[in-house]
Amino acid sequence: MRIPEHKLDEIRQAADIVEVVADVVSLKKSGQGFTGLCPFHNEKTPSFRVNPDMGIFKCFGCGEGGDAFSFVMKTEHVSFMEAVRSLAERYNVDLPEEDSTPEQAERATRFEKLYEALRFAANWYYQQLKHHEEAEKARVYLQKRGFTIETIRVFGLGYAPPSGQALLDAAVQEGIDESILLDTDLVKPSSKGEGVYDSFRDRLMFPILNPSARVIGFAGRTFDENKGPKYVNSAQTDVYNKSQVLYGIHLAKSVIRQEKQVILVEGYTDVMSLAQHGVKNVVANSGTALTREQLELLKRYSNRLLMIYDADAAGQKAMVRGIELALEMGLEPETLQLPEGEDPDSFVKEQGQEGFIEHKRKNTEDYITYLLRLAEESGRLTSMHERVHVIEELVELLAAIPDPVARQVATQQLHQSTHKFRGGSDRELHAAVDASVAKRQQRNKLRQTRTEDSGPRTVSGASQAEGPPPIQDEGLPLDPSAEISDSVTPSKRRPEYERRLLKLCLEHGAWMVDYIYQYVYPSFLEDSQYREFFELLVERAKRQEPIDRSTFRAFPSSTPELLATIFMEKHTPGSRMSERMKQNRFDQVDEVMEAKSTMKVLVTHYLQRLKASITTEMSEDKLPDTRRQELVTMMREAQKQLNTLQSTAAEHCFENPAGYDPEQKRKEGFSYTPKPRKSS
Ligand code: GTP
Ligand code: MN
Repeated sequence: MRIPEHKLDEIRQAADIVEVVADVVSLKKSGQGFTGLCPFHNEKTPSFRVNPDMGIFKCFGCGEGGDAFSFVMKTEHVSFMEAVRSLAERYNVDLPEEDSTPEQAERATRFEKLYEALRFAANWYYQQLKHHEEAEKARVYLQKRGFTIETIRVFGLGYAPPSGQALLDAAVQEGIDESILLDTDLVKPSSKGEGVYDSFRDRLMFPILNPSARVIGFAGRTFDENKGPKYVNSAQTDVYNKSQVLYGIHLAKSVIRQEKQVILVEGYTDVMSLAQHGVKNVVANSGTALTREQLELLKRYSNRLLMIYDADAAGQKAMVRGIELALEMGLEPETLQLPEGEDPDSFVKEQGQEGFIEHKRKNTEDYITYLLRLAEESGRLTSMHERVHVIEELVELLAAIPDPVARQVATQQLHQSTHKFRGGSDRELHAAVDASVAKRQQRNKLRQTRTEDSGPRTVSGASQAEGPPPIQDEGLPLDPSAEISDSVTPSKRRPEYERRLLKLCLEHGAWMVDYIYQYVYPSFLEDSQYREFFELLVERAKRQEPIDRSTFRAFPSSTPELLATIFMEKHTPGSRMSERMKQNRFDQVDEVMEAKSTMKVLVTHYLQRLKASITTEMSEDKLPDTRRQELVTMMREAQKQLNTLQSTAAEHCFENPAGYDPEQKRKEGFSYTPKPRKSS
């Protein structure tokens, strides 16, 4: 169900962010807000801040930030809806209660009953493993495999006795309905007529838990691999959906967050062994093909994904498929190969934690290196014809990366790893990837128009056709769509001056956006999210739509995080500059002046990046003369503008274009003529 926006606002206002955070973090008053030790990374000095007025938090150490909803989502590892519900409940905001119809109430209770039955079974199997006579072979087996009592307890392993009735009887005695047992697939209807019998018999039991640590199903391992399947799993039920299962996620999730990496293995015992040896950011997808839903879940905790699969053909195939999916979903896949015949379980038992970590450090490959190695090993790089195909495949793969900056970085890397045998410039490779992206988008659009008719929002740079000239009105305007090639991996830190610029826009509204846009194109911004957001602000200003804090709702992604990043300042109270501004109130230096100083820094950085990228391109061997000439001119122009900027005081830097006066615009109330909203 959807919760109406006004309800969300109501909860946001009712929820006291300080109180919500204080459940988890011990906070101290400081300036206008509170500080404490960040719950999202390990730190000794507090860099985590809460601003009660705005209802947001932000950590300056690790970058996490957001509002009360995101805080609950992140600390309790729940979905947005769950966070909304729990805060609504806590602060007595009535939600439109869909659950209150009798059918829904019944449904909720039924789910509780399913979970209860599953938890009961897990406990019962565990007790059998500890005490049941016939479980002796299971205990011996586990001991032989080197699992400690502690590991067995942490993972809640159990034993299902051979009798076809034992669990059934125990559960019924506990007052659990047979129908519930059937619905959890703990028991099955007998094929020969009457009655039901236990689904798992004489098996080592692995309970499977969801991220909130609720038992949702089981895997049972045989003791005799010649008899029947090695593992049997619970059937698909209302609470067990195999394409969403990640074995070990409830234990691994917080470590994944700390380590900023998730290790994905194939088997249950791999997860257990690694954990027993201190490697705990591990989950298994249980030997099945990796699904989108599984990755979606992992993405909540980290976007660095290390896959360790068997070295056999099946394992390799699964990894390639995993890489494709991961890239598509904006994750960063890496792979690790273990020596022939080893799996993570056997390897870590032989080599110990240190051996494993050492091997991982030395042999982790990024996906490009891995895929090229596979191609080489299968002899595909020796024939010219095959080489072309390999490159084409890789180009198509990179085109799946959603973030343009990440895609460019990857393309550059592909160029570096292949130019020896490929020939040709990185420009050609970028062009090939771009073409493949366009093809993909075309395909997606076709697919989309069939289902819905909402056109995708463009995120490209400002169009060349319109828009005012950048800085100074004389001289050659730099091509605002000139993309700066990223030879350096973008750092997680966002540029402070870009943040300040957006903050100015949001504080002062459309006239400020309009003013800044006289001199700064979106493409001048380095941070991709900031850039997109600035584009959005410009679009809104053009359409005369109001711009204020609520504008964030129109932004497609990461809203509260970005909001927190833009509004929370490292130096409390206020940034140093705005403090200075406030003291100078009498001089009438104000937001226009602040905008000028900020733009000066921003444009300087842009020009420096532009120069660096021109230099990189000029160093290429096979540059056509015409392009080289262009680059020389651009370089000269960039340098000229840089010199002008650097030798001019900020207040004289950006002279107003003829007929344009921001003060006038402000007085006219440029921004606040909201048109009536069209309802869609
Ligand atoms: P051990 O042999 O006890 O170490 O288990 P393992 O996890 O190493 O098993 P293996 O490497 O053979 O398989 C990896 C994973 O694939 C297992 O953990 C299971 O999740 C899954 N799997 C393997 N065999 C079967 C099977 O017969 N049926 C099902 N449903 N899953 C299986
Ligand atoms: Mn194994």
